Amino acid sequence: MANVIVGVTGGIAAYKAAELVSLLGKQGHAVRCIMTDAAQQFITPLTLQTLSGNPVYTSMFQMQENPEWQVEHIGLARWADCVLIVPATADFIGKVAHGLADDLLSTCVMATAAPVFFAPAMNDQMYANPLVQRNIDILREAGYGFVDPVEGNLACGTSGKGKMASPERIAAVLETLREQDMKGVRLVVTAGPTREVLDPVRYLTNHSSGKMGYAIARQAANRGADVVLVSGPSSQAVPANVTLVPVQSARDMFEAVKQQYAQADIVIKAAAVADYRPKTVAAQKIKKSDGDMVLELERNPDILAWLGEHKNHQILMGFAAETNDVKQHALGKLQRKHLDFIAANDVTQQHSGFGKDTNQITVYGADGSVHELPVLSKEDAADCLLNLVLEAYQNRKP
Ligand code: C5P
Repeated sequence: MANVIVGVTGGIAAYKAAELVSLLGKQGHAVRCIMTDAAQQFITPLTLQTLSGNPVYTSMFQMQENPEWQVEHIGLARWADCVLIVPATADFIGKVAHGLADDLLSTCVMATAAPVFFAPAMNDQMYANPLVQRNIDILREAGYGFVDPVEGNLACGTSGKGKMASPERIAAVLETLREQDMKGVRLVVTAGPTREVLDPVRYLTNHSSGKMGYAIARQAANRGADVVLVSGPSSQAVPANVTLVPVQSARDMFEAVKQQYAQADIVIKAAAVADYRPKTVAAQKIKKSDGDMVLELERNPDILAWLGEHKNHQILMGFAAETNDVKQHALGKLQRKHLDFIAANDVTQQHSGFGKDTNQITVYGADGSVHELPVLSKEDAADCLLNLVLEAYQNRKP
């Protein structure tokens, strides 16, 4: 979790800075706010103090009140892992672009070594003004980041590009700050359920939400990996910087994964692939009759077993969602499918399983290692799994 400075300048979108501070706090970040004089015309320091749980800094000359910082702008500049300017007015953008530093926020921006992101918010004509755009270009070239405004209704009664990006979008830049320890690693992740068509209106499937696989894809992309996500139908949002290959049936997934396999360094199979499909697919909707009905099913290919058989340099991790004898079943799959790791969980447990936001996983390695993870969010669990496959990949690399 990061130390974040939210710098608020004087625009009507300042009220959204309050929402951002609240969101960052919920995500576990430590937040300190700096407000310019004009910002205090729109919202009060008390609002941000309450939401951040920290004093709000408004002046260069507050040292008596906050003796902990000694020289305030330097203390804050050093403390920060990231500075977010929310909203960023044309005036403030221009000021920083030209190296001016005449108040606490601009001196802090000038003095920090942490990444700084601007979230501009202004009238659309103002945003389009070539002078403003030139200042933005100067800042981009100097390595400052921007969370661009979007089209929408503006406070001045017009509509156009100038509306500040949402607090969620702004908070997401923190995810890009992670150590890029997976840079250059090509990862294929499978996720979600498969759909096995029975007739034009019906299919067989399972309860998989795709959350675990999507969390793995998201975290790996945040760590710099090249990620291909082969996913059955899922309502999860596709993570940024991930290439999605959407599939329906187990056989579609098999084809997609086979195509990716030669170029992959690591494959993680988090999908809940249907083991069977209807033997015949009716061209028309199957009509009910009075009696019972028997469905004939045939085996789907076991994708992971195929990957295990055709493995050369790749690191392979499978999942074992079990309801009983977890260890025994997991170890059986590890061996049978020639895997490097199997991530096992008991889906009957309170914190694990379909659609949940947490997971409790035990990972068994082909080398006999056992890693019992505690109950974790699917994001944190994903990071632990990635640490294991990454280490194995680095050890295997010639
Ligand atoms: O044998 P079981 O289906 O329980 O194995 C689970 C693991 O195998 C998961 O990683 C799953 O994605 C993968 N699997 C597969 N192809 C199948 C069935 C399962 O790749 N047809």
